[in-house]
Amino acid sequence: MNAKSDVDSNATLNAFREVVRSRRSVRRFTDEPVPEHVLDDCLELAMLAPNSSNLQPWEFFVVRTPDLKTRLADACLGQNAAKTAPLLIVVVARTDTWREHSRMALEQWPEEKLPGIVEKYYSRIAPIHYNQGPFGLLGAAKKAAGLFVGLSRPVPRGPYSKSEMKVWATKSTALAAENLMLALRAHGYDSCPMEGFDECRVRRLLKLPRKGLVTMVLAAGKRSDKGVYNRQYRFERDTLIHYL
Ligand SMILES: Cc1cc2nc3c(=O)[nH]c(=O)nc-3n(C[C@H](O)[C@H](O)[C@H](O)COP(=O)(O)O)c2cc1C
Repeated sequence: MNAKSDVDSNATLNAFREVVRSRRSVRRFTDEPVPEHVLDDCLELAMLAPNSSNLQPWEFFVVRTPDLKTRLADACLGQNAAKTAPLLIVVVARTDTWREHSRMALEQWPEEKLPGIVEKYYSRIAPIHYNQGPFGLLGAAKKAAGLFVGLSRPVPRGPYSKSEMKVWATKSTALAAENLMLALRAHGYDSCPMEGFDECRVRRLLKLPRKGLVTMVLAAGKRSDKGVYNRQYRFERDTLIHYL
């Protein structure tokens, strides 16, 4: 590594550390709006989150209109973060877009030549791997096959049911939510992730598709003076980090 890139990587690390360390869950925001170009960039960065099979099972609903925002804040149980934020973003996981997205992955492959293995994955493997079949019967059959074959060699252990599909979609979507929050911080804005909401009401308000899971509602804006309620703390590393 030459001296120049050494300096660059330190600067990058310090900037990254500053972004991660200064992100807090902010419960009170000022009235200052999040500019369009900031929002746009943050959403772009959110979409760069790693995700399962690059099937991008997420959707983002940006709520800025005052009336809808007020009603959404109400559905977020009237939390201060939701009530005071100039912007609410509903981050939704979809368990049902994998088929369409498999097709899009084939169509939008970024290289000139589509590798055979990629073609096979999206056209033949994904339709079996993610499909649980009517009443989840295909999932149950896959689970039985997995249990049997798994006796002699490693096999994927799911997703084998509709509820496992929810976990599948939520994992990737939560990573996108984190990217979004860190991007807001890097732009000098703040956020609060919320799972304290009435999902039925949020779903109805936004006319979400039946298979959309509201993973988080993100409040976003500039932190106000008393926006952070307490000092940040985490448990002892020894209880949570295990070196094997
Ligand atoms: C999935 C999830 C759900 C959360 N839901 C809420 C919420 O409904 N209301 C709230 O005020 N904070 C909520 N938080 C924020 C946490 O309370 C916060 O991240 C935690 O206390 C650590 O504080 P910090 O984010 O400032 O480090 C949520 C965070 C996550 C990741």
